[in-house]
Amino acid sequence: MNSISEIKDSFTKELDAVSDVAALEKIRVAYVGRNGTLTAVLRSLGDLPLDERKKIGPLAQALRKEIEDALIEKIASFAEQSKFSVDLTAPGKKISRGHLHPLTLIEKDFRQIFSSMNFSVIDGPEIESEYYNFDALNVAPNHPARDMWDTFWIKQPEFDGSNTSSRDEAKNTKKHLLLRTHTSPNQARFMREHTPPFQIIVPGRVFRYEATDAGHEINFYQVEGLMVGKDITLANLKFVIEEFFKKFFKGKKVEFRYRPSYFPFTEPSIEVDIKIAGGKWLEVMGAGMVHPHVFEYAGYNPREWQGFAFGMGMDRLAMIKYNIPDIRLFYSGDVRFIKQF
Ligand code: PHE
Repeated sequence: MNSISEIKDSFTKELDAVSDVAALEKIRVAYVGRNGTLTAVLRSLGDLPLDERKKIGPLAQALRKEIEDALIEKIASFAEQSKFSVDLTAPGKKISRGHLHPLTLIEKDFRQIFSSMNFSVIDGPEIESEYYNFDALNVAPNHPARDMWDTFWIKQPEFDGSNTSSRDEAKNTKKHLLLRTHTSPNQARFMREHTPPFQIIVPGRVFRYEATDAGHEINFYQVEGLMVGKDITLANLKFVIEEFFKKFFKGKKVEFRYRPSYFPFTEPSIEVDIKIAGGKWLEVMGAGMVHPHVFEYAGYNPREWQGFAFGMGMDRLAMIKYNIPDIRLFYSGDVRFIKQF
């Protein structure tokens, strides 16, 4: 009995002197913590004779409640005094979970939509041979069409040094390596190893040796498409493209415009423009029917097979879909940008 009121007195005194949360926590531990003074009394109740236990038990329990209430009240008074109010009943903070990069989101859309149309998703190397990037696509070594793609060439030890070999000589060995300037080399790669009919897309990063501005980066992402079979026509290409864009811009009205164009690996070649919800016309892809020479390079008989191919810029589509004004934002590594998606 005595000790209960003693505990209470000393607690009250100590509590009055407390002025910060750390000191308060010390007191809590000292009285009602696992090895606290009052906890010890409560624990020893069982050893007491029954009549004492009946007297002391309720007093000790009541004191514990009193102490706990006093601690809470004190903490609340701290919170009130401090500039930032602390709501003790507020739920915990949600842990932030990170965000997918908008290009990752766009690539997911591509994979999902084209898979639903029975296309397979294929991967290819970023470091490519000159042969697949150009020659196998009907772009001959000295053809001016090579200038359509400003290329990062990869220095190779055997072509280096002061001796004879000029870059042209090196290129003519066909072993020359480069950073792929488009995803089209995967048309040639895939055809070499597969027999039609098939339909594939190849998403991936490409590189161009260009000055950067809001619309151009030295690297960006493309998606290549290729469908080969016995009776493939431009009408099939048109259908697949329109189907894709309708799904990609869910529910929005999409209009299409097809313009004649030129690519060495397609004949005829077209450029596709879209207009979303009555906005401006935007150029979104190059496409066409696979050129007979490309089939020949792949070992196919061009009289037996037809196909279409297309290439779209993923960055450009991400910019259109999410209203992003500058392509460089994708590669800025700025978390504030990523957090918006
Ligand atoms: N590879 C072309 C480019 O990067 C796009 C393209 C792909 C055109 C397939 C036609 C067919 O510009």
